[in-house]
Amino acid sequence: MKLVFATNNPNKLKEVQALVPAHIQLLSLKDIGCFEDIPETADTIEGNAQLKALHVKKYYGYDCFADDTGLEVTALDGAPGVYSARYAGTPRDADANMNKLLAELQNKENRSAQFKTVIALQLNGEEHLFTGIAKGNIIDHKRGNQGFGYDPIFQAEGHDKTFAELSMEEKNQIAHRGKAVRLLIEFLSSC
Ligand code: IMP
Repeated sequence: MKLVFATNNPNKLKEVQALVPAHIQLLSLKDIGCFEDIPETADTIEGNAQLKALHVKKYYGYDCFADDTGLEVTALDGAPGVYSARYAGTPRDADANMNKLLAELQNKENRSAQFKTVIALQLNGEEHLFTGIAKGNIIDHKRGNQGFGYDPIFQAEGHDKTFAELSMEEKNQIAHRGKAVRLLIEFLSSC
């Protein structure tokens, strides 16, 4: 079975390829000749994942899955959420995003937040959604240099290190994307 992972990120592709059952051949966007920017115009994380998977199905004809992730901060009513990548404007800049978030949270007592990944799968004419959540807190300064995005200021519940202080393997065990991917793999393995 051929299945497209709608991503341009070679690291994500490699990570998931290693986990999918052997009868599934994972194709990248490049493999199917898709070099366009797939619209991410929804106002929810779920919506963007759904848009991307549907786009590939509709215009390229392949069964497909797509992921979208955001950081939802309780004291900011769920912001930056679906707008996490460009929270401080364009071009996307992880440091500027973190600085803006730290400024917004100054004087706020509630520092709780969660990362949410949604994977939308288009398979045999049906849509399936898989959600992975990592709950934690936004600390008040950056720590660590692993990972990416908001990792240096996010501390998962029950851990005293930030995501940026964990190895990739350690982060994958407890983080949102790993959880959603494991649900997807479980489902595909039962197909
Ligand atoms: P994407 O949907 O995976 O491209 O993620 C959107 C944005 O959310 C990224 O540009 C990052 O700012 C943030 N983000 C996603 N996943 C992570 C993560 O694992 N750690 C930190 N930030 C993340």
